[in-house]
Amino acid sequence: MTITLNTLETQLEDLQQAALAAIADAADLDALEQLRVAYLGKKGQLSNILGGMGKLDPSDRPTVGKLTNEVKAALQTALDTAREALQLARVQAQIAAETIDVTMPGTLRPQGRRHPLASTIDRALDIFVGLGYTVATGPEMESDHYNFSSLNMPKDHPARDMQDTFYLPNGHLLRTHTSPVQIRYMEQNDPPIRVVAPGRVYRRDTVDATHSAVFHQVELLAVDQGLTFTDLKGTIGEFIQQMFGDVEIRFRPSYFPFTEPSAEVDVRWKGNWLEVLGCGMVDPNVLQAVGYDPEVYTGFAAGFGIERFAMVLHQIDDIRRVYASDLRFLRQF
Ligand code: DAH
Repeated sequence: MTITLNTLETQLEDLQQAALAAIADAADLDALEQLRVAYLGKKGQLSNILGGMGKLDPSDRPTVGKLTNEVKAALQTALDTAREALQLARVQAQIAAETIDVTMPGTLRPQGRRHPLASTIDRALDIFVGLGYTVATGPEMESDHYNFSSLNMPKDHPARDMQDTFYLPNGHLLRTHTSPVQIRYMEQNDPPIRVVAPGRVYRRDTVDATHSAVFHQVELLAVDQGLTFTDLKGTIGEFIQQMFGDVEIRFRPSYFPFTEPSAEVDVRWKGNWLEVLGCGMVDPNVLQAVGYDPEVYTGFAAGFGIERFAMVLHQIDDIRRVYASDLRFLRQF
């Protein structure tokens, strides 16, 4: 059976139309490759149709040959164009998938922060370390000796009543101030001494907005040859300035058993004089008791309450807030 030129031409045109439509519809590169094999492959539809060439009148063959080449070229062009487009789309999809959108809001993790007491202690220590002081600590359970006697407060000394003491069943006590660290440090070290000692202290106070049975102090001690009250004033003045900013300060004569002369320091804060620390020249009796010669060495000391400082600096109205672990309070710092 012979095949007419017309039939072959129609077959080729139909094939081209169907192939171009399929190529345009190909969803991905795999689908495209399958179409190439199906139409242009060795056993593909084009070869199939050309198999009918032999049954064609020889004079018609060049016409069909030319048409075949045109169809082939058209399919190849369509395949190439589609491949490029699909490759580009794939790369773009990949880039889109890997892009980090820097404008997206991040996941907020709750951030911890320093407790106002801790940061106030650190601030005070930083200032003294900047002035050449070393940080020292001592035990919270103390003997009567270190808490009182060595600080020029022998038994029955009336000044012991200034500090209501927690006595322990073992005969010791909870230190009522950080001053015993002065004694312990001097016993272990020779002058010159520049030391700052933070710590927790205990008093049998009735708890209210300004009193707590447990609170924190920072103690200061300098011992050297030739130290005078002027050195004390300069050091305290510098400290207050760094702690509170440019405030007016005044020294008021006072009394502490372990210093002579003694003073209390007030700062002018929001229009009022506010007492912030006690200080004085180390009493010669105290120096003598640790084996320093008071004829050779003089010293000055100071002590202040951290809660008081924190409350003033942060306008905290009730001391109990700093122990309550209330996050609504703590998150403000
Ligand atoms: N220890 C005293 C108190 O707790 C504070 C104090 C005053 C300490 C004068 C000192 C000082 O070192 O010189 O009330």
